Formats: sequence, structure tokens, C-alpha cells
Amino acid sequence: MERVSARLMADLAPVMIWVSGADKQCIFFNRPWLEFRGRRMEEELGDGWTEGLHPEDKEMCIQTYNRSFDERLPLRMEYRIRRHDGTYRWVLDSAKPIITEDGTFMGYIGTVIDIDDMKRTEELNRKLQEQVFHSQKMEAIGSMAAGLAHDLKNLLTVIKGNSDLIKAHSEKGSKTERYADNINEASMRASELVNKLLLVSRRQPMNRSTVDLGSVAYGTLQLIESLLPAGIEVRYEKEEGLWPVEGDQGMLEQMLVNLVTNARDAMPSGGTLLISLRNEVVSEAAVNNGASPGCYVVLTVSDSGIGMTPEVMSRMFDPFFTTKPEGKGTGLGLSIAYGVVKGHGGWIEVKSEIGKGSVFNIYLPVGQKALQI
Ligand SMILES: Nc1ncnc2c1ncn2[C@@H]1O[C@H](COP(=O)(O)OP(=O)(O)OP(=O)(O)O)[C@@H](O)[C@H]1O
Ligand SMILES: [Mg+2]
Repeated sequence: MERVSARLMADLAPVMIWVSGADKQCIFFNRPWLEFRGRRMEEELGDGWTEGLHPEDKEMCIQTYNRSFDERLPLRMEYRIRRHDGTYRWVLDSAKPIITEDGTFMGYIGTVIDIDDMKRTEELNRKLQEQVFHSQKMEAIGSMAAGLAHDLKNLLTVIKGNSDLIKAHSEKGSKTERYADNINEASMRASELVNKLLLVSRRQPMNRSTVDLGSVAYGTLQLIESLLPAGIEVRYEKEEGLWPVEGDQGMLEQMLVNLVTNARDAMPSGGTLLISLRNEVVSEAAVNNGASPGCYVVLTVSDSGIGMTPEVMSRMFDPFFTTKPEGKGTGLGLSIAYGVVKGHGGWIEVKSEIGKGSVFNIYLPVGQKALQI
């Protein structure tokens, strides 16, 4: 009678329950567990239940289970286990040793709850926080770059003006004229750097027009193809009826050149560079932090190169962050791409795997005006 009511209680409990003997083998699962798993008691008994563990969690789960048993310690762990519908769900499993009044160890009793939805919300919150942190960081860097660029621009005007004056007052072919030319050349290069900083900071005024990204991509490829080593195969795919976007063609070209140059540098011993363009309607749920749902053109630049570590990925958009040898990279390529895309109301998604390559997906919104054409 006592056994029957204990079982009834276990079956009516709002949590999943399991019981195991001193030999670690499971001897009971309540109804919620069996319903969750969609399996019969006989299939789950012993170590039958471990069949449903997610391959990535199996080892950790069994190790923790065995260790708690050996030490007779309470157990608490999170793992994924297959539900009746074939999906893996995160669960929280808490168990305690069963010790009789005379001190005999009888096994364990555990309760399990499905925490999958909670986990997903946590993950989403973490991602959102990361995005907010990242945009705040880029905002701060942007204003710093803007301030710096502004001051440098003024100083460079003075430097260039004075070197022009020195040149004008110097004898043709003299050493002084040569020195003035050197100053001039250096200040021109510094001006280029300042322009790049302005692109990063998004303080550069935009020269807006309706842009066909297909021709931007095609033109850029023509331009850059001669700079690509023979070992790199280029593929170009464009969806029929690609929507036009509204923006600054020059800036968009610059962004693409930067991405393609990075892809080239990532494939020193050759590989495949893919540039593709497609239309996508982005819903509220899928939209990136700060952007609006709607119609987007997605530009993908992918390479089969060296890939990036998570550390490099977390810093790749920072101005002056480069892993390239001194003199090879300024570390501004991706910061400019980020500034340009953000300035157009879009965002960049990046996937990368060491030794496999990287994929940059650029989302650019289709302007209202552009859609009417
Ligand atoms: N396609 C890619 N594959 C592997 N790593 C990449 C890729 N794109 C960017 N990176 C990494 O991100 C870093 C920053 O890129 P970014 O374009 O901003 O600067 P850079 O290429 O180093 O210099 P610059 O573009 O100014 O010449 C690179 O140094 C590299 O480590
Ligand atoms: Mg670069």
C-alpha cells in the first residue's frame, strides 16, 4: 500500500523523477519523465535513459553521475536530453543520496525540470547585451575618431599650406624643394588616413543615390581581379531582380574592397572567394540590434581561408586592430566597413571557423524610394 501511494504521488508530481539503486542502475522513472521521453519504463531502466543524452553532454553527465555516487554527494547538473518529438531540451537535474535511518546507502532520488525555454531567453539576453555593449563601444570609438580626424585635418592643412609655400620660395631642383615635396607627400598620406578615420566615425557626409549593388560588386571584382593571385578562384552569384539600395556608392565600393582584400589575405595558398547578392525580408524577431524590420539586400563575401579565433572575432571591428605584420595592415578595413554599413542602416553578421574560412553577411536596407523604381 505504501509503495503504491508513493508511486502514485511520483506520477502526479509536476516534475520528472527518477530513482536509482546503490549499483547506479535506475530502478524507477515517474510518468512525467516517461511522457517527456516518449519511452516505456523498460527502455529507460538501468542505464537505458543515457541513450537520450545529447552526444556533447553525455560524457560530462555520466561522469558527474558516477562521481556523485562514489562520493555520496548531492548532484546537480544541466544537460540536454531527447524529448519524445526528437528535439533535445536542456534540463536541470538535482538528486540526493537515499540513506536509511541505520545509515545504509540505497541509491539516489532525483528530480528533473525542463529549463530549455529559460536557457533560450538567457542566451537571447546575453546576445542582446553583447550587441548593446558592442554598439556603445563603436559609438565611443566613432566619436573619438571623429575628434581626432577633425583636429588632424586642421593641422594637415597648415602643414600642407606651409610646405607649398616653402616649395614656391625654393629654387627649382634644390634640396629645399625636395624636402618640401617629401612633407607634401607625407601630409597627403596622412590626409588619406584622416579620410579613413572619418569613414569609421560616420561623420563623413553621404552622397546618396539609388545604388545597384550588383554593378558595384561586378565593378569591384573587375577592379580587384588583377590583384588576386592565380590560386584564388572567384565566384559571383546574383539573384534575379535584386532590389536596389539607397546609399553612397563610393562608400559601398570601399566597404566591398575592404572585405575582398581581407578574404584575399586570408587565403595565402589559394582558395575560393564567393561574392553573392540576394534579397531578404527580415522580420522583427530576426532583425539586428537597432535596425528596423523590412526589405534588405544581403551581400555575402566568403572565403575558404584561415578563419578567425573567437578572440580575433571579438575585436575585428576595432579601429587599428590587425593581426597582420607591421606595414601590411592598418587595421582600419573592417572598422570602415562597419561604419559604412551602420551609416546605411544595416548590419554585418560574421561566421568563421579556423582552417575553414569566414563568411561576412552584409545587410543593407532597401530604401523606400529605391523600391518604387
Ligand atoms: N576574411 C578574413 N579571414 C580571416 N581573418 C580576417 C578576415 N577579415 C578580417 N580578419 C581579421 O580581422 C583583422 C582586422 O581586419 P581589418 O580589415 O580591419 O584590418 P587589416 O586587414 O588587418 O588591415 P587593413 O584592412 O587596414 O589593411 C585582420 O587583421 C584579421 O586578423
Ligand atoms: Mg583589411
